Amino acid sequence: MEKKQLENLLEHMSMREKIGQLILLSGDFFGTDEIATGPKEKLGIEEWVVDYAGSAMNVLGTEKVRNIQEKHMKKSKIPLLFMGDIVYGYKTIFPIPLALASSWNMALIKECAEVVAKEASAAGAHVTFAPMVDVVRDARWGRCMESPGEDPYYNSQFAAAMVNGFQGELKAGESLVSCVKHFAGYGAVEAGREYNTVDMSRWRLMQEYLPPYKAAVDAGCRMVMTSFNTIEGVPVTANRWLLDDILRKTWNFDGVIVTDYAAVQELIAHGVASNDREAAYLSMNAGVDIDMKTPCYANQLQPLCEGGILSIEKIDKAVMRVLTLKNELGLFEDPYQGLDIDREKRYLHCDKHREKAKEAAAASMVLLKNSNNTLPLQKKIKIALIGPYSDSKELNGMWAVHCDRENVVTLKEAFQRKFGASQVRTCRGCELMDDYESLGDFGGFFHIGSILKHSKEEELAKSIELAKWADVVVFAVGEHMLQSGESGSRTKPEIPRVQSAWMDEVLPYAKKSVTLLFNGRPLVVGDIVEKTDAVLECYFPGSDGADSISELVSGEKNPSGRLTMSFPREVGQIPVYYNHFSTGRPQGISEHTGRYVSRYLDCPNEPYFPFGYGLSYHESVYSEITLSSDRLMGEGSIYAKLTIENLTETEGEEVVQLYIHDLFASVVRPVKELKDFQKIKLGAHEKKEVVFEIRREMLQFVDQNYHMVVEPGEFELFIGKNSIACKKAKFFYQE
Ligand code: BGC
Repeated sequence: MEKKQLENLLEHMSMREKIGQLILLSGDFFGTDEIATGPKEKLGIEEWVVDYAGSAMNVLGTEKVRNIQEKHMKKSKIPLLFMGDIVYGYKTIFPIPLALASSWNMALIKECAEVVAKEASAAGAHVTFAPMVDVVRDARWGRCMESPGEDPYYNSQFAAAMVNGFQGELKAGESLVSCVKHFAGYGAVEAGREYNTVDMSRWRLMQEYLPPYKAAVDAGCRMVMTSFNTIEGVPVTANRWLLDDILRKTWNFDGVIVTDYAAVQELIAHGVASNDREAAYLSMNAGVDIDMKTPCYANQLQPLCEGGILSIEKIDKAVMRVLTLKNELGLFEDPYQGLDIDREKRYLHCDKHREKAKEAAAASMVLLKNSNNTLPLQKKIKIALIGPYSDSKELNGMWAVHCDRENVVTLKEAFQRKFGASQVRTCRGCELMDDYESLGDFGGFFHIGSILKHSKEEELAKSIELAKWADVVVFAVGEHMLQSGESGSRTKPEIPRVQSAWMDEVLPYAKKSVTLLFNGRPLVVGDIVEKTDAVLECYFPGSDGADSISELVSGEKNPSGRLTMSFPREVGQIPVYYNHFSTGRPQGISEHTGRYVSRYLDCPNEPYFPFGYGLSYHESVYSEITLSSDRLMGEGSIYAKLTIENLTETEGEEVVQLYIHDLFASVVRPVKELKDFQKIKLGAHEKKEVVFEIRREMLQFVDQNYHMVVEPGEFELFIGKNSIACKKAKFFYQE
C-alpha cells in the first residue's frame, strides 16, 4: 500500500477499530468461538475488542494461523499481526543466547537468527520478541540465559547480528520483525530478583545499559518492548523520558513500542496509577503503542479521548505505526502471505537447520578446565555417562516455548553413536534437585518431579558400578531447566546440592572424570571444578546440541567458546564483572596497604572465571603488541599488531580480544572495556599476525552532562585471550 492509502485507511477507521490495533491478545482469544468466551471474561473485555484486535501472540502453525486470520478478516478489514517468543528457535532449537553469545562469531549468530526466522515465519509468525540484550551482571537473575552477557559493546554487536538475521529483507513468510527487549536496563534488577526495582544513575544507564538497545535500533529493528522495571522511580511503561525523549527523539525510532506482559495494568501495583484509566493514560502519554494482554487500552482509551484527556492525534499516530508495520510486511496485499503447509513441513527441524544448530552449539560451549589433557577422550575408552542430564530431553532451556521435546537428541544417543553403544553406559544417578516444588506452577506444561526410575540407593549403587567399570566418568549435571529463565531467580546459583553430594560419593571410584554442565546462568562452581579433571560448560545447547557435545568430547571439534559473563567465586561477590570502575583504593595498586584497600576479607575480588575466558585443545602464545604509532590524532587511526602462534599439532580457533582503559578522564572509567575482537583459525603450528584498527570512537564515553565525548590523554591497550590474560601497550589521543 502507498502511504496515502494507509492514511486514507486510518481516516475511515472507527474509534473501536483504531483502539483494536493497539491491543495484543494471546492466542486463546482467537481459537474457536467457544474458547474465546473464557479468556474474554477473565480479562474483562468485550467481544468487539477481539474482533478488532490488532495482534495475537504465541499462537503459531500454518493451519492455525490461517484459520484465525480467515475468521478475523470476516470481521475486520485489517489483518492480524502474529507475534511470539521465538527467542532462540522455533522447532530447531539453538543454544540459549548466553551460550550462543559465547561463540564470539557474529556471522554465525546472524545465520542462526535467519534460520529461526525462516522456521517461525513459515509457521505464520510475523514478530519475534527477541533479541533480549539486557546487560546483566547478576548470576542470581534467571534471565541471564536470555542475555548475551555483561558487556555493553559485546551485547551491542550481538543485538545487531540478531536483528539483521531475524529481519533480513523483511517479508511475511520469510523473515521476522525483531522486537528488542527489555527496554531498558532490566538486567540490573536489584538482587537479581525478577520483576524487581532497577535504580542507577542516568549516567551509568546511558553509558553501559542503553547501548545494546540502541545498536538494535540502529540495525533497523522495527519493534521495542518496554521493561517491567522502574528507571529513576518511574516504571518504563510510563516513562516518557525513556520512550519519547531517548527512544523516539534522540534515537529516531519510528517503529512500534509494545509493553511487556500486562505491564500497563501493573502500573497500579507499582503505585503510580490508581486505576486502569490512569494506567492507560500514563502509558499512552509516555509513548506506548501496544498494550500487551491487559484491558486498559481496550476499555479506557475511548473515555480518555472523549474526556479530552488524550488527543485523538496521539492515538492516530500509534495506530499509524502499527498499520505501517503491517504494510511493511506486505499483509494488506496478502494477509496469508507465506502460509504454506508444505513449506512449513519442509523447513521445520530440517537437516540443514539441524546442522546449523549443531555448528552453533559446538561453537558455544566453553571448556573451563582440562587438567592433564583429560579431554578429548580416546575412541576406544569405556565411558560411564551418568547424571540427571545423561539421558534427558530437557536440553532446550526455558524459553524454547514452541519446541517439540521429542526432537531433542539426548546425550546417551549422541555418545553411543560417537563412541559405540558397548562403550557407553548410562544411568541418571540422582535427582535433579532436592525440592521440585520450589519451581512453582507451570500449568502442567512441563513434568515437574522426580526423574529417577529406581530408588535413590539403587541409582547410587548403579553409578558406582558404572564408575568402576569405566575408564572415565562423564558427569552430566546442572540446574533444572526451570531454575533459569523468567522467574528463575536464585540466591544460590550453583549445582543443586543433591547432585554435588552424589558426585562426592561416586568420584572415589572414577579413574578420570569429566563434568558437563547444563545451566542457564553463570554458576558458583569452584568445588565441582576442583574435584573433576575436566569441565565443559554446555549451558542449554538446544535440540541437537548433544551431538555437538559428543563432537567436542571426542576431539572431532576443538572447543572455542569464551565466557561472556564472569563466573563468581561466591554469591557475595555479585555483581562481579570485568569492566568495573577504578576505585580510590584499588587492591594491588593503591598506596594504601593491608586492610584499607577495596577488597573482601574472605574472598579474592576476582571472579572464578573471568569474562572472555575459555580453553581449547590447542595451546597458543601471544607476542607483545606493536603499535603503528603511539599517537592517535583526531579522526585518524593507528594499528595494533601482534602474532599468535599455535604451539601444537591441533588446529583451533582463538578469540583475540581488545580492551581499552582510559587512564585519566573527567569521570571515572572502567579498568578495561572490550572494544573489538576477532575469532581466528590457527592450523597446526601456525603463526598468524592479527591487526586491529584503533579509532577515536572507541574512546567515547558519557560525561557528567550526559554527552558523548572523547577526551585527549593517555590510554592503555590490552590484547589477549580473555579479560585478564592480556598483553599491554600505551598510546595517547590528541584532538
Ligand atoms: C517476558 C517477555 C516476553 C513476554 C511475552 C514476559 O513475561 O518478560 O520477555 O516476551 O512475557 O511472552
